Amino acid sequence: MIFLTGDTHGVLEIGRLRPDNFPAGQNLTRDDLVIILGDFGLLWSDPPRQEERDALGELENSPWTTLFLDGNHENFSLLKALPEEERFGAPVGVVSPHVFHLRRGYIYTLQNKRSFVFGGARSVDRKGRRSGVSWWRQEIPSEEEFRRGLNSLEEADWKVDWILTHTAPDSILEKTHLLKYLAGDPVSAYLDEILREVEYDRWFCAHLHLNRFFPGDRLHVLRENIMNGETEEVVSKKRNTPSLRSLLRSAAAKRPREGD
Ligand SMILES: [Fe+2]
Repeated sequence: MIFLTGDTHGVLEIGRLRPDNFPAGQNLTRDDLVIILGDFGLLWSDPPRQEERDALGELENSPWTTLFLDGNHENFSLLKALPEEERFGAPVGVVSPHVFHLRRGYIYTLQNKRSFVFGGARSVDRKGRRSGVSWWRQEIPSEEEFRRGLNSLEEADWKVDWILTHTAPDSILEKTHLLKYLAGDPVSAYLDEILREVEYDRWFCAHLHLNRFFPGDRLHVLRENIMNGETEEVVSKKRNTPSLRSLLRSAAAKRPREGD
């Protein structure tokens, strides 16, 4: 089985994979995969903080195999320094024996799903971050990575089963209220070009901090939901948390109006 979830942001939200929230995880084996769709964030401090070491140890000791793609909030120096080996048909970064980083622009065979992977996105909060400390310019893919993605798809005749990315294509952003914040990201523009060319069955991404399905594009945006990729069933206890925006709106609607 393959399960997918959105940004974990390091120690802040990795606890979502614990048995109390993800009981289905307890029945899995090392052949089963749990995929974090970027902003994994557990390789962050250099040297790592004890709580990061502990969380990585907990992940390694989980019953399944963990895969993650990179988002924008990652320490790219640490990701680049990982030892690399061939797994699932393409190079991966090895964090520990059962935790792997899926690199940009490759097609991996994840169980029986030929999956095109492309992490990265532009940070909207980059102005408040420090280069090499809390922000890395490698959040935007290099020319080589952009080209590798196109070459991999060309070799696959532009036909895959799944697409796994951190951000969403521009045309998806346009269907949300987020375009005004996220417009101008070269990664979402690139993904939009791909969306128009490629044949695929399902697309999974994260980054937008919402859980939403776009049926016309067969695309799932995931936040805290943990989804079985084959059945598309959400299995986590915590799920579909309303966005901050809708919480504010519903609080405003309950507030007595003048004269009430
Ligand atoms: Fe992100």
